[in-house]
Amino acid sequence: MKKKSYKTIHQNILTWYKQHGRVTLPWRNTTSAYEIYLSEIMLQQTQVKTVLERFYFPFLKRFPTFKDVASAPIDDVLKAWEGLGYYTRARNLHKTAQVTQGILPSSAEKLEELSGIGKSTAHAVACFAFNEALPILDANVKRILYRFFSLKKCTTKELWAYAYKLFDKDNAYIYNQTMMDIGSIICTHKNPNCTVCPFESGCQGKSNPLLYPEKKAKKTKPTRKHYMVIYHQNKKYALRQNESKLLGGLWGFEQHETFDITSKNITQLGVFTHHYTHFRLDANVLLIPKESVHKSYFTLDEIEELALSGADRKALSILKTYLR
Ligand code: ADE
Repeated sequence: MKKKSYKTIHQNILTWYKQHGRVTLPWRNTTSAYEIYLSEIMLQQTQVKTVLERFYFPFLKRFPTFKDVASAPIDDVLKAWEGLGYYTRARNLHKTAQVTQGILPSSAEKLEELSGIGKSTAHAVACFAFNEALPILDANVKRILYRFFSLKKCTTKELWAYAYKLFDKDNAYIYNQTMMDIGSIICTHKNPNCTVCPFESGCQGKSNPLLYPEKKAKKTKPTRKHYMVIYHQNKKYALRQNESKLLGGLWGFEQHETFDITSKNITQLGVFTHHYTHFRLDANVLLIPKESVHKSYFTLDEIEELALSGADRKALSILKTYLR
């Protein structure tokens, strides 16, 4: 790749950030590596608005320091993560708290060795918390690079090379935060607003940004049809802790792909749909009197204290409507 100077663009970025940067975001107003790292993990798969309005502050209230995360049971961490989805993040956060004994290492190289911290997150934390001058490559940054360099299709390795090429190492913090802001406010997926973009003067994709990157054919999500079975006895309901990779550690009702619903003891409570990243769940919620094999029964109040997956929350809400 030919080395080119982006001096004007870097200057435009500094000016833009001063005028329009989201400087009040709480993770931009702290020097705590834990608070910065927490924000980066939450923001990996969740939008700023959701993290800000519903999860970031309650999590920090429950776990003010990373040592508090390390000493807490995983169930408490999952409970604070409930509703945010992608629970592997919470399990990795807890593991990392324990492995590091609540003290994050201060270099990208060491951060990247920890569970749940990929290269881009390691660079973000190292840059924002420890002033290491390294570029970031999350989904927003990738989209900017595809358009700026008018790229149709690239490997991650090639994109990293472009990320370094455009990077302003002398103003790494502002450059990286601006990339986040431009990606979510200006260089958006469907509606890029090139006329106000600080990259505009050098952007090779600006005449038709939607051409970059080349669209992949959309795969339709498969549907799984499950029965969600709620066993009950004396106003208590059976839940079990999930062991799957997707929802490990979360509590939920029993699920079956097939179930004989002809028995007269079964009450059909209702149906709902829930979308996961890779499939759609169509669930049929059944209420059935206790069976001897089920051990863990909880009152409705006790269930509120458990971390439930989104689908199980929907089943619970159908149960509560029925009981009303
Ligand atoms: N997404 C990931 N990191 C971010 C940050 N620091 N600010 C805004 N959005 C982000």
